[in-house]
Amino acid sequence: MSNTPKLIAIDGPAAAGKGTLAKRLAAHFDLQLLDTGLLYRGVARKVLDAGVEVADNPEAYAKIAGETARGLVAADLEVDGLRTDETAQAASRVSAVPEVRAALLAFQRDFADTPPYDGKGAVLDGRDIGTVVCPDAPVKLFITASTEVRAKRRLKELQDRGVEAIYAGVLEDMQQRDARDQGRDASPLVPAEDSFLLDTSDLDADQAFTSALEFIASREPFG
Ligand code: DC
Repeated sequence: MSNTPKLIAIDGPAAAGKGTLAKRLAAHFDLQLLDTGLLYRGVARKVLDAGVEVADNPEAYAKIAGETARGLVAADLEVDGLRTDETAQAASRVSAVPEVRAALLAFQRDFADTPPYDGKGAVLDGRDIGTVVCPDAPVKLFITASTEVRAKRRLKELQDRGVEAIYAGVLEDMQQRDARDQGRDASPLVPAEDSFLLDTSDLDADQAFTSALEFIASREPFG
């Protein structure tokens, strides 16, 4: 049997279909799943609750965000309110702070090296998993879709949850978040060179899953 860890790194922008695919792959291969966006959302929630505004004082903000990230524990990720758009926007801001990224790196690498609950391996999804967190992962997927398709998906998701939203507002939020996630200096969102690019603009969840499985079947130790 191969000693290569069963590790799947999934990156891509918001609402491209990463989360759904990550869940399905983790269940299919019996791997532990870490949605790393929740870590950044957890830090963001605490910073928001503390009433700190980045515009007030960027340095104080970075310091508090970095300290919060160091103190983050798993229980912080179970609180309500991490899935809101307010938290998403704030997460996109705190995640540009290098101290925050550094503070969360060890937690993510530990999870990948020794997944909890006797896992056989792990699936991590985020923005910099294939490039920074797990650069040696045997499988790297970069999931994307056009901004318009992603905004429509997000709008439907919000409406299904009973949240009032309009397309133009969702699209603008998405564009702002993309620009910040891709344009920051610290671990910007870019595909790893050796990643499999999957554009889900014209695919449903089943087709995306099938396509990812075909690629994974070509990689050790999965093939
Ligand atoms: O995946 P998500 O929408 O929950 O992520 C929220 C924000 O967190 C995202 O806009 C950027 C940041 N993030 C990051 O910088 N690196 C990651 N690995 C995961 C998320």
